[in-house]
Amino acid sequence: MTTFTDEQKRLAGEAAAALVESGMIVGMGTGSTAAWFVRALARRMETERLDVRGVPTSRVTAQLAEVLAIPLLELNQVEIDLTVDGADEIGPGLQLIKGAGAALLREKLVWEASRRCVVIADAGKRSARLGRAPLPIEVAAFGHESTCRRIGDVLSDCEIGIPPRLRIRDGEVVVTDNGNVLYDVTCGAIPDPSMLADALKSVTGVVEHGLFLDLADEGLIAGENGVERLSP
Ligand code: A5P
Repeated sequence: MTTFTDEQKRLAGEAAAALVESGMIVGMGTGSTAAWFVRALARRMETERLDVRGVPTSRVTAQLAEVLAIPLLELNQVEIDLTVDGADEIGPGLQLIKGAGAALLREKLVWEASRRCVVIADAGKRSARLGRAPLPIEVAAFGHESTCRRIGDVLSDCEIGIPPRLRIRDGEVVVTDNGNVLYDVTCGAIPDPSMLADALKSVTGVVEHGLFLDLADEGLIAGENGVERLSP
């Protein structure tokens, strides 16, 4: 059954697909909203004969693109014209939390290699203060419990007294496409996102975190009155 939220995700995905021009190299995000974008892009490529090549942010997205006959490139080979991706939370200034789909490292690598990044979402993802969605942290598997303790210290320094929780699904520890594990922190509110981002990166063993700050150039957010275009 299609929900109202699914419908909003579809509208946001289709609005983003309309931004793509023939000849572009396009970064393709991960998650259900990004999947709507990939499907809408594939439709445009077929009906309008657009010449587009994609750079996927996860194995799941690569598989979807292959099924839809979107030619793929390795990130190493290219500069990306436009990346379109979803988010788990969109705070003020298009500051984002991402990574619920376990793809945050590849997502951030693709975003940072892109000339323009557009975040797409349903309106329910917006928040007045970043920290409502759990913040994912990708950690090297080797010694991850030790790294987790040092992440806890950093969180306390940043006035977040919540312990990180190892991500487990169906009784198994979740392993990312890069062979790492994930910890999630339900912060509630993040007093200073930049300070937290820098502090997390300083912990050896932390590979990347899901704070996407100053990376989105534009937001396409679908709500009750259609798709709203947001700037940072
Ligand atoms: C993937 O790792 C995340 O960053 C996704 O972009 C996020 O989970 C959005 O998912 P939905 O579009 O399914 O809400």
